[in-house]
Amino acid sequence: MKLWSGRFGKETDALVNDFNASIQFDQRLYREDITGSMAHAAMLANCGVISREDADAIQAGLEGILADIEAGKVAFSADNEDIHMNVEALLTARIGDAGKRLHTARSRNDQVALDFRMYVRREIPVLVGQLLELEAVLCRQARKYQEAVMPGYTHLQRAQPISFAQHLMAYGAMFRRDVTRLEDCGKRLNECPLGSGALAGTTYPIDRFQTAAALGFDAPMGNSLDGVSDRDYALELLSDLSILMMHLSRFSEEVILWCSWEFKFIELDDAYATGSSIMPQKKNPDVAELVRGKTGRVYGSLMGLLTTMKGLPLAYNKDMQEDKEPVFDAIDTVEMCLPVFAAMLDTMTVRTDNMRAAAGKGFINATDCADYLTKKGMPFRDAYTVTGHLVAACTAQGKTLEDLTLEELQAVSPLFEADVYQALKLENCMALRGSFGGPAVAETTRQIAQLEAFIQAHTK
Ligand code: ARG
Repeated sequence: MKLWSGRFGKETDALVNDFNASIQFDQRLYREDITGSMAHAAMLANCGVISREDADAIQAGLEGILADIEAGKVAFSADNEDIHMNVEALLTARIGDAGKRLHTARSRNDQVALDFRMYVRREIPVLVGQLLELEAVLCRQARKYQEAVMPGYTHLQRAQPISFAQHLMAYGAMFRRDVTRLEDCGKRLNECPLGSGALAGTTYPIDRFQTAAALGFDAPMGNSLDGVSDRDYALELLSDLSILMMHLSRFSEEVILWCSWEFKFIELDDAYATGSSIMPQKKNPDVAELVRGKTGRVYGSLMGLLTTMKGLPLAYNKDMQEDKEPVFDAIDTVEMCLPVFAAMLDTMTVRTDNMRAAAGKGFINATDCADYLTKKGMPFRDAYTVTGHLVAACTAQGKTLEDLTLEELQAVSPLFEADVYQALKLENCMALRGSFGGPAVAETTRQIAQLEAFIQAHTK
């Protein structure tokens, strides 16, 4: 019999029973549900709404249920619809009337809002921890490759010389923002919906500040309708995870390119690559491809929940039961991607020789050539044009800028002197880019050190 069967004259249709139930997925919230109920019962007793004996019986009963669930001894039932009613039914079966008093001054609407919020709050440090591990890998690898010249790209065309460390630290900066975004979400969500009731609060003399504090919240939510209707925290988490996956996906794309014979800037460890069932020579970057692929799935979760929420009148609507699976799936997906991606990067072999060879082609020192003339007094725009002509001539002759003789260079501008060859040397081109945030070793060292300090400050 349903907990809410009082006003019904018929049993629920079996199809509806299964259709309506969420226990298959919301059982994941059992710990939050029980913790929330314990705080609620204690507060009810403190406020004189239920007796101390009942509160103690509820506390002991819930502890027993928690232990049994964790020991795998509890079979949840779709007849009890969701985790909230499953726990309440178990409690009442175990302790009788006291169990029936637990739901005083509470609704499943504020209960689910609380449980889900606490679940998201609990996962944020897990995600942050994984991001910091990835950051640590990036720092380690970057420290090794601060002098490794590689072509930096725009439009996927070789553009200007950078170091591999500089490239890795760009991702370091992105993941750092992901950390602070998640932490931000954690701060904003930390208000307690419990005590909002079904939507309109309650007539009992409850103390919402007490439950908020007991459950580690900064304050109770200030409006009971908002308390049960708000899923911003879930949407914020999903959007943070979507941005995070976008970063991982761009990185994956580069790993995939870098593994190709066209680039061969890196080689993945055999343990982090896969073969082909037909082509004996193949070593595929499946991990990076799957991370890139799973990005779509996380975006889907965000789009799905945004769409679910967009037309809902206040306050609770059953549509909102659809909030959990996308959030669970997105969290699971990201928590699967981050460690495997970090391990893949940690174990890769970096082919600095191929990076250097690629940097040698494609005129990535052309800007430096123009800058050389500019520093000798030519207006930059003219220097740009002169260099453009030199590039065209070199392309026609299959040469690089530094292959040109001083006479050939001086034929286009008398400002060229013997020191131009030092200015065109890729190592120098990179080393001289010492502007704040640039690829010069002093700057990558600063970037790495700052990221390491960030990791330290966040690993307590
Ligand atoms: N299982 C429900 C959910 O996930 C719990 C809240 C149900 N509330 C209600 N009024 N039917 O949203």
